[in-house]
Amino acid sequence: MQGVDPAWLPDGVFRPIGTRRTVLRGSGLLVDTVHGELVAACARYGGGVSREPGPYDLLLELDDSFSPDDAEGFTYERGDGRATVTASGARGLLYGFFHAVRLGEEAFLGEPVRETHRPAVGLRMLDHWDNVAVHPVMGQVERGYAGGSLFWEDGRARGDLDRVAAYGRLLASCGINAVAVNNVNVHEAEARLLTDRISEVAALAGVFRAYGIRTHLSVTFAAPIVLGGLATADPLDPEVRRWWAAATARVHEAIPDFGGYVVKADSEGQPGPFAYGRSHADGANLLAAALEPYGGTVHWRAFVYDHHQDWRDRTTDRARAAYDHFTPLDGEFAANAVLQVKHGPMDFQVREPVSPLIGAMPGTRLAVELQATQEYTGQQRHVCWLGPMWSEVLRFEPEEGSPVGELARGGLVAVSNVGDDPFWTGHPLAQANLYTFGRLAWRPDADAGGILDEWIGLTFGADATAGVRAVMAGSWRTYEKYTAPLGVGFMVQPGHHYGPSVDGYEYSPWGTYHFADRDGVGVDRSVASGTGYAGQYGKRWAEVYETVASCPDELLLFFHHVPYGHVLKSGKTVVQHIYDTHFEGVDEVAEARRRWDALAGVVDPVRHARVAERFEEQLRSAREWRDQINSYFFRKSGVPDEHGRTIY
Ligand code: GCU
Repeated sequence: MQGVDPAWLPDGVFRPIGTRRTVLRGSGLLVDTVHGELVAACARYGGGVSREPGPYDLLLELDDSFSPDDAEGFTYERGDGRATVTASGARGLLYGFFHAVRLGEEAFLGEPVRETHRPAVGLRMLDHWDNVAVHPVMGQVERGYAGGSLFWEDGRARGDLDRVAAYGRLLASCGINAVAVNNVNVHEAEARLLTDRISEVAALAGVFRAYGIRTHLSVTFAAPIVLGGLATADPLDPEVRRWWAAATARVHEAIPDFGGYVVKADSEGQPGPFAYGRSHADGANLLAAALEPYGGTVHWRAFVYDHHQDWRDRTTDRARAAYDHFTPLDGEFAANAVLQVKHGPMDFQVREPVSPLIGAMPGTRLAVELQATQEYTGQQRHVCWLGPMWSEVLRFEPEEGSPVGELARGGLVAVSNVGDDPFWTGHPLAQANLYTFGRLAWRPDADAGGILDEWIGLTFGADATAGVRAVMAGSWRTYEKYTAPLGVGFMVQPGHHYGPSVDGYEYSPWGTYHFADRDGVGVDRSVASGTGYAGQYGKRWAEVYETVASCPDELLLFFHHVPYGHVLKSGKTVVQHIYDTHFEGVDEVAEARRRWDALAGVVDPVRHARVAERFEEQLRSAREWRDQINSYFFRKSGVPDEHGRTIY
């Protein structure tokens, strides 16, 4: 698309296919999508594409006789310089095509292979926190750092959906198959997407459909009142049930392959079943029943906590909330209700333990929610590749042998980091988070570093691989070093969440405290003397987190309040660790910037300039973080830096 960054699908990646002869067998919308790709590639590079049997280098075949249930998988075979992709479902063919694109020349050359690929997770979804009308505080995209919305502009659906099609193509190429098109905080204009404005959603769904992506909608639990004029939204009220059934029937008429609803209820001021003395299972099952005849799913978010906390009250712990609210309801959710759980117990901090809810509800389908949009990880002004963090989360085993990636039976979801910015994600290197999410959702145990290399190779070409990898691979840990230490979290500016403010939330109602005083820092979440949160884990992890001696360093302040002189497993005291990591973090940013500068001439100049500009801000901000955090702890503790560096 003109004027828009090609991201990981620059023309060149289609050369190996575009110079060859392809035979494409099968029919239907997605086969036509693949055909369109092949025609474009061959027009550019001189190859040929035929839909009839004949000689070929690449055979793409939709064959529903070979494994009728396997709609998304495909078999890829290579030998004698030729390749074959066979799929029993159209999505599988689309994914098989992009698999061949990713392989490049290797798709045809090299040792003979025959492999079957299929996604480990059925639902691989992006949630857009996009508002239809510009919100006075949150703007067009809540927590969006890449311009406006791809879908909505100033109260209306965009008329030109070419950009949405280009987006759908990028998503399909990394395996995403579902998109929720509006914010989980459903305001007035957005509520109406469910009813009289459903045609606008249908237009988006029409574009996404061609890329194998189903469209989902965030709805307000109060819809029967605000849209239907009923006196109640009580989930057990027969009239309310009829209202949802009728509304959902109309949605389905407009969008036959509608994916379902996303609901944020009784959370940060959104309406929910608590108002009627009903449970969250009652609430979710109401919508599940309405969606059931059409094969839709309700994604019910577990982000329920008290945001009117009193900091003087040491018995309430926000980290406990999701587990306390939802585990008693295990087994009560309908089969097409999915409980969508944030990966950590708080809110997408740079370091959190895995939510103890994951693995604790065996009778409930859970989806795990990640945040691609970098709300707390540098807001797409800082380079922060989240692959290693997500990979750690997905490989974490609440019980031995059951990693999170397998427990997420209801899907993997990420909050999108995309907007109408020409680079899609503001920071061009943040595109890697989108790509990595798609690839990890396909295979949660995939090697994140391999995915990064794949992304760099496609986006920048082989010459840039080592340089870009050096800039990105460690960027999450670097970010962690210069921000909130040892798992304690937050310490951000309230409201917008960018930049340091150690006590910004310390006496606020949001429940995100660090309890630093002159003697020590951290939150005692042990069973023995703290909030008891550590006891929400199964035996294995409950024991690990319970004591200072066994708790891993990187989560120490999440679970324990310790003196500044406490010696970590690394051999350093807590306060010296804080000083050292903050100096190191800034040095690492400076080094990454230097490495980026060295890539001038190897990387496309416009992209290079955008990243270089962001690095200026990252370095400024990292210094600010370093100085504020170090000064804060120096002044609190009075302990000087062992190395005598400047602490203000
Ligand atoms: C965070 C974020 C909010 C968002 C909320 C959610 O708290 O700051 O903007 O609405 O998460 O996930 O619902």
